[in-house]
Amino acid sequence: MILVTGGGGYIGSHLVKKLKEDGKEVVVFDNFERGHKWAVKDLDVVEGDLRNKEDIKKVFNNYNIDEVYHFAAYSLVGESMENPMKYFKGNVCGTLNLIEAMIEYNVRYIVFSSSAAVYGNPEKIPITEDQPKNPTSVYGQSKLMIEEILEWFSRLNKIRYVALRYFNAAGAYYDGSIGEAHDPETHLIPIVLQTAVGKREKVFIYGNDYPTKDGTPVRDYIHVMDLIDAHIKAMEWMKSEDESEVFNLGNGKGFTVLEVLETAKKVTSKDIDFEITSRRPGDPAVLVASCERAKKVLGWTPKSSDLEKIILDAWRWHKKFEQHKNF
Ligand code: UFG
Repeated sequence: MILVTGGGGYIGSHLVKKLKEDGKEVVVFDNFERGHKWAVKDLDVVEGDLRNKEDIKKVFNNYNIDEVYHFAAYSLVGESMENPMKYFKGNVCGTLNLIEAMIEYNVRYIVFSSSAAVYGNPEKIPITEDQPKNPTSVYGQSKLMIEEILEWFSRLNKIRYVALRYFNAAGAYYDGSIGEAHDPETHLIPIVLQTAVGKREKVFIYGNDYPTKDGTPVRDYIHVMDLIDAHIKAMEWMKSEDESEVFNLGNGKGFTVLEVLETAKKVTSKDIDFEITSRRPGDPAVLVASCERAKKVLGWTPKSSDLEKIILDAWRWHKKFEQHKNF
């Protein structure tokens, strides 16, 4: 049985749906503080909080778990700077309880949802996994701490882990049945599409004075279904090689904020209004991944991460979500 913590969240729910489609047995663990019940309806769900050791131990006690995908976390950069304790306790202490339960129940394999935020301001583009890790946010720091903790348990115990450092996840399930829905929403593509659908008046672009081709920051957008494919391959690889590793997951191509906006206008055939405003503190100018390691070791390659395809899938979902909201 596969345990997915944070299975009600954006990326977790997409993995759960895919695993079920592949005929796997899955149990979702989520406190539904940020995750959504509608994203995992009709599935095996345990409502609980990783910060309560007893909650997670119960799952290992009641189900015969042999693999863990760990998504449960707070994931807002800005919020992490205002409330660092929430992030360290929620993300780091929560993961420690999970690892402790894994050790107690002899569960060895964990795929961990990490982030490009561990790098901070990169020295070189594209970013390879061995570049210095200098997080510029508590969120990024909490993800790095968890990677380091996992590394120690991999050395000292039988735990094997794969940490996947996502760049900018976007898009929705291929059939549009589930997608990205954060509250509050801070991510560019959903905000652009909420504007296209009429939920927002305009998009505020955080600065156009960066050293990039049009002055707006460059990001590496990766389709959520490509991420899911990498998770499944990472688990298979880890189990067959009995090794631990860290991988970047991005598309390897960068797009500016204005390019995203232009592509969204084209895909949606809507005129999306925007206004340039001041920079958002902590935003690096350029984040683009080198994914050579994942390609070589996992045999993974992004197949759906053309920007138009990402936005088209996200658009299909947003139209449905904003119009019906009866999930
Ligand atoms: N942006 C705007 N206006 C908005 C929202 C975003 O101009 O309303 C810009 C941001 O300044 C940034 C780009 O759009 O340049 C992308 O912003 P997102 O918030 O969508 O994504 P980030 O690149 O900030 O965040 C991603 C991941 C985080 C991770 C971070 C590391 O989503 O989990 O990279 O820097 F921590």
